[in-house]
Amino acid sequence: MSQALIRLRVNGSEVARTVEVRRTLSDFLREDLGLTGTHVGCEHGVCGACTVLLDGQPVRSCLLFAVQADGAEVTTVEALGTPEALSPLQQAFMDHHALQCGFCTPGFLMSATALLRDHPRPSNEIIRDMMGGHLCRCTGYAAIEEAVKAAGA
Ligand code: FES
Ligand code: FES
Repeated sequence: MSQALIRLRVNGSEVARTVEVRRTLSDFLREDLGLTGTHVGCEHGVCGACTVLLDGQPVRSCLLFAVQADGAEVTTVEALGTPEALSPLQQAFMDHHALQCGFCTPGFLMSATALLRDHPRPSNEIIRDMMGGHLCRCTGYAAIEEAVKAAGA
């Protein structure tokens, strides 16, 4: 099995690991680094649950190989906050009931993080454009839209 040494930064920490070249970034984060906040749903780029930031841009980690993140900065949902100190965006999701089962939530949070960085006061249209890349089977999306809007206010 072909392997490669990769070096990257994950949530601000330097990481060096030897990985199979076919290992997905999502499996690398979850299984090799134990960062299980990144969820894997469809595994083919449709649901958005696996979204992380790669050099600041939202990407589907199920569609990337870990070796493609060599030299990059990866940010996962674990970097946003803790149960004791939620980030403003996480708090807004809680306040606006923007999650039920929570399976889709890490992906929404990561895309919304990039969105709010680029559009601190986003329009509903911009938020809906972002939401179009994610599936949620529980909330009906309106609450998520409200939460992102509130976090940007
Ligand atoms: S698990 Fe990656 S998009 Fe669904
Ligand atoms: S909160 Fe359950 S899938 Fe979105």
